[in-house]
Amino acid sequence: MNIAIVGATGMVGQNFLKLLKEKHFPVNTLQLFASKKNEGKKLMFRSQELTIQSLNQNSFNNIEIAFFSAGEEISRQWAPIAAQNKTVVIDNSSAFRMNNDIPLVVPEINASLIQKYKEKGGIIANPNCSTIQLVVALNPLHTGFGLESVHVSTYQSLSGAGQKALNLLKEESQSILNDKKALALASSEHFSAFNCIPQIGDLNEDGFSTEETKLMQETKKILNLPHLKITATAVRVPTFNGHGEAVLVTLKKPAEKKEVINALMEGQGLKVLQEKHLSHQRFVDGRNDVYLSRIRAVPGEEGKSWMMWVAADNLRKGAALNGLQIAESLIKQD
Ligand SMILES: NC(=O)c1ccc[n+]([C@@H]2O[C@H](COP(=O)([O-])OP(=O)(O)OC[C@H]3O[C@@H](n4cnc5c(N)ncnc54)[C@H](OP(=O)(O)O)[C@@H]3O)[C@@H](O)[C@H]2O)c1
Repeated sequence: MNIAIVGATGMVGQNFLKLLKEKHFPVNTLQLFASKKNEGKKLMFRSQELTIQSLNQNSFNNIEIAFFSAGEEISRQWAPIAAQNKTVVIDNSSAFRMNNDIPLVVPEINASLIQKYKEKGGIIANPNCSTIQLVVALNPLHTGFGLESVHVSTYQSLSGAGQKALNLLKEESQSILNDKKALALASSEHFSAFNCIPQIGDLNEDGFSTEETKLMQETKKILNLPHLKITATAVRVPTFNGHGEAVLVTLKKPAEKKEVINALMEGQGLKVLQEKHLSHQRFVDGRNDVYLSRIRAVPGEEGKSWMMWVAADNLRKGAALNGLQIAESLIKQD
């Protein structure tokens, strides 16, 4: 297929390149786009040197699938131009996710929504990284027992905020380790090293951050449960990569622990770690599945409410891998 990556030099874009190779995706031509500052630079793909370009009106001529990971503004400007060209845009930004006419897709759950996109092109939205791992974990419980409510607290790494934020974490950590006085200076709520920041994005008038709102709204849309009771607290933690989530879920139909574990073990894209094994952030870094551990019943709730720890690589299943799986679903529909 003729493929484009918009935002090829970024954290998600680099993972698209890695995964196209790893998954032996059928690439005929590959066009790489980034900002003007990187125009003309070279990147390697399958022993071929590719030149980074900046976007123009003709960039999507003959492109069948374009993976967009250059932020909301670029998507708003360029994704409709690509879509008019019959390109399938798989967009990682939040620009179109809540648009009623645009499917928000996690292939394990709702790949059926993208039938016919391959012929006519159009925009398909890739959900927020924290949403993807949450819905992959919730889906088997939803189909097996029904969901009454979900409460989630996230522990999100700095790679989720892009390359600059990750570099800053490294610099800040180094400066504190080299000079203790730097810690005293680091009282800002934006200082991520050795800190957990309980706000990702702006707060709305109800006090929820944009990240929390995305998690709540997108989960309802993907699971097709508009009335699901769901709350979220999103926290940035000073890890490099991988997001963790403490999830409390109340089921409509009570279940035994064995039934809950069996349902989760059969869930697509999910791996359940049992006994003392933990799905911690370092463990999920570089892995493709969503990992569960610490599954336990809420005392006194008689199998209705369950707690669990859900973790995944936010750059893989939380972004590029999910995008690539959407593309694979399109190809399979031939
Ligand atoms: N990081 C995650 O875990 C994650 C997960 C899910 C979704 N997302 C979403 O994916 C998108 C990218 O995130 P990221 O973490 O990869 O960010 P990033 O590391 O900051 O990368 C941003 C990319 O956008 C490119 N870009 C900037 N201006 C451009 C322009 N005018 N034309 C073309 N490309 C341009 C940058 O190119 P230069 O290098 O030339 O500046 C870079 O390749 C965001 O919308 C983000 O919300 C991220």
